[in-house]
Amino acid sequence: MSEFAEITLGGQSYKFPVVTGTENEKAIDISNLRSDTGYITIDRGYKNTGSTQSAITFLDGENGILRYRGYSIEDLAEKSNFLEVAYLLIYGELPTQEQYKNFTYEITTHTLVNEDMKKIFDGFPVNAHPMGVLSSLVCSLSAFYPMPVNPLSDRTYLDLSIVRLLAKMPTIAAWSYKNSQGHAVNYPKNKYSYAENFLHMMFALPVDDYEPDPVVANALDKLFILHADHEQNCSTSTVRLVGSSHATLYSAISASICALWGPLHGGANQKVIEMLERIHQDGGDISKYVDKAKDKDSDFRLMGFGHRVYKNFDPRAKIIKKAADEVLESLGVDDPLLDIAKQLEEIALRDEYFVERKLYPNVDFYSGIIYKALNIPVNMFTVMFAMGRLPGWIAQWLEMRQNREPIGRPRQVYTGANHKEYQSLDKR
Ligand code: CMC
Repeated sequence: MSEFAEITLGGQSYKFPVVTGTENEKAIDISNLRSDTGYITIDRGYKNTGSTQSAITFLDGENGILRYRGYSIEDLAEKSNFLEVAYLLIYGELPTQEQYKNFTYEITTHTLVNEDMKKIFDGFPVNAHPMGVLSSLVCSLSAFYPMPVNPLSDRTYLDLSIVRLLAKMPTIAAWSYKNSQGHAVNYPKNKYSYAENFLHMMFALPVDDYEPDPVVANALDKLFILHADHEQNCSTSTVRLVGSSHATLYSAISASICALWGPLHGGANQKVIEMLERIHQDGGDISKYVDKAKDKDSDFRLMGFGHRVYKNFDPRAKIIKKAADEVLESLGVDDPLLDIAKQLEEIALRDEYFVERKLYPNVDFYSGIIYKALNIPVNMFTVMFAMGRLPGWIAQWLEMRQNREPIGRPRQVYTGANHKEYQSLDKR
């Protein structure tokens, strides 16, 4: 043991090895803590707990750095495209031209879903939130496209399952929207790119001609890249935890969609727009809402502000803010919510409360404004996040299974009643 941490318990000292990552991140390996000492650690919200060692995404929250497989998010967002990034995350390297051609061909030709799945859509009420529909339908893929118990035993089938998920997710997502509109669904068209196809399935109507706008498709592709992975966040940890029981890939992804839905995680993008609309309708008094967010007697938070890991700036938010300006200008959209968002950011970034707590705009702060400009309905915003995050979830699930990680099973410190004698019902 070259570097180690020493813990003294009951007068006895124990040594635990220090693990160092490739970016010099340090951790204390406490795998033997309980067996050696009888103690466990407590860390609510896992604020200091590394659940795994991973080679997929590097995130330095203090310096605002985000890299997928070593490539900076700025480079990928500017120069790459979503399917190339998906390949990079899942298979570990950027694809060669041949690999890229095959991968995109496979995804393009697996976009149809089993016709019987349409019957499931019919069972949902029209006002069902699309995230609930998406999660249910993704889980139902386990029934329509069963996977072997050990998916790693058949690599061809595993790759096919990955392709199916990536290919069918936009179809399911767009159909969940169509269902909420009470409209007939649109079938995918192979001539379109990934983002164009999604736009076609969302917006084409039998009564009108519709061609996806390249500005809109490019903006969507960039947003997907920015969301593609973010190491061990709530939904990704869910994928790994559910997958660690050897549940199917589809059910692990379905669980992560549910985790993402919450307003403290991916659901924040919907809440940001609702908050900005509320401020706008209330006369635009931004300070009133900043004060409310600081008031500890109020549950109100500035949605789209703060992050568990980023304590300087969120590099994704920086890119999205610039993209929001470009997209709105190019589409000729003048959205008063963008002005409110900018003023809110300015006021909050100067406010001692936010400065002290290192609360900065996160990825969800500006993404909603772009989605709105692209005509994506507000209750679909978190679905957009889920589509972008899908390759990351798949990559993390695959890494967890390939590394033969044990079933995830935290412990607890029990604080309930001590042993009580049972009294039969007639004596109580
Ligand atoms: N508005 C007002 N105060 C806040 C906010 C906010 N948005 N976020 C954190 N705080 C305060 C919090 O009250 C606490 O104050 P104090 O120290 O006085 O008790 C302090 O800042 C630390 O907050 P925390 O809740 O302990 O931090 P956390 O790391 O547990 O939570 C967070 C991170 C993202 C859940 C939280 O900042 C938040 O609720 N933000 C709003 C929701 C949001 O935008 N979520 C999207 C996150 S980015 C997309 C993603 O990857 O999911």
